[in-house]
Amino acid sequence: MKSRANFLGHPLHPILIPFPLAFLTGALAFDAAGWCWTRPDWWSVGYYLAIAGVVMGLVAAVPGLIDYFAVVPPNSSAKQRATKHMLVNLAALALFAFSWLLRGDPSAAPDGLTLGVQVLGLVLLTSGGWMGGTLVYRNVIGVDHRYAHAGKWREERVEDTPGAPVTVGKADELKVNQMKLLHVGSRRIVLGRTEQGYVAFDDRCTHKGGPLSDGVMICGTVQCPWHGSQFDTATGAVKAGPAGDSIATYRVEQHGDELRLRL
Ligand code: FES
Repeated sequence: MKSRANFLGHPLHPILIPFPLAFLTGALAFDAAGWCWTRPDWWSVGYYLAIAGVVMGLVAAVPGLIDYFAVVPPNSSAKQRATKHMLVNLAALALFAFSWLLRGDPSAAPDGLTLGVQVLGLVLLTSGGWMGGTLVYRNVIGVDHRYAHAGKWREERVEDTPGAPVTVGKADELKVNQMKLLHVGSRRIVLGRTEQGYVAFDDRCTHKGGPLSDGVMICGTVQCPWHGSQFDTATGAVKAGPAGDSIATYRVEQHGDELRLRL
């Protein structure tokens, strides 16, 4: 089986995420322990950890935002999940920032309200983390798949000239069962090579919007990476559910060593 599949996110995203998680959890732990045992030095640490966590959370949000727009497939269940993930995490940061403002001073003891706001922030942060994990483990966002003899991930932006065929690559560019994701204007189209020649079809699975370019193609059938729906790449027909509707396919023409797509 040869295929490519790779929906890698921004490399800084997973590197930065542990910082706000550690700092904000630590802020609550130090504040609560300092409050319980009346230790001003502990709640001072909590004060500084809270603001460090908020700042690092905002820094980590930048690659997250890039992934949100550039990697998560549009019009999909993953996009809805990513939207909730982003809003819940921002709300958690806002709550920790609010708790920090409530304290106002590192020497001020945290009161019940401050601790309550932080607990709520941590609940939201945990729930946001759960959604982020689901985006990785279920929606395979940021997972680097490898298959035997796989070609490298290919993704290309091409100009859409209405009414005219679009040049999308060279005839020998892909091996049989390899795919490439094309951004043609605002559309995401998969160019694939089968034993019978080149095919092109919508990147969006009709079940819940899974990225077919990130799935597996073999013997003219492409399988969605999310729930396994299979489509005939020549006709777009569903060969196996849960998807019920076929995908759109497009004509690929070969002129010399050039491939042209007709939309
Ligand atoms: S999104 Fe569910 S099978 Fe494709």
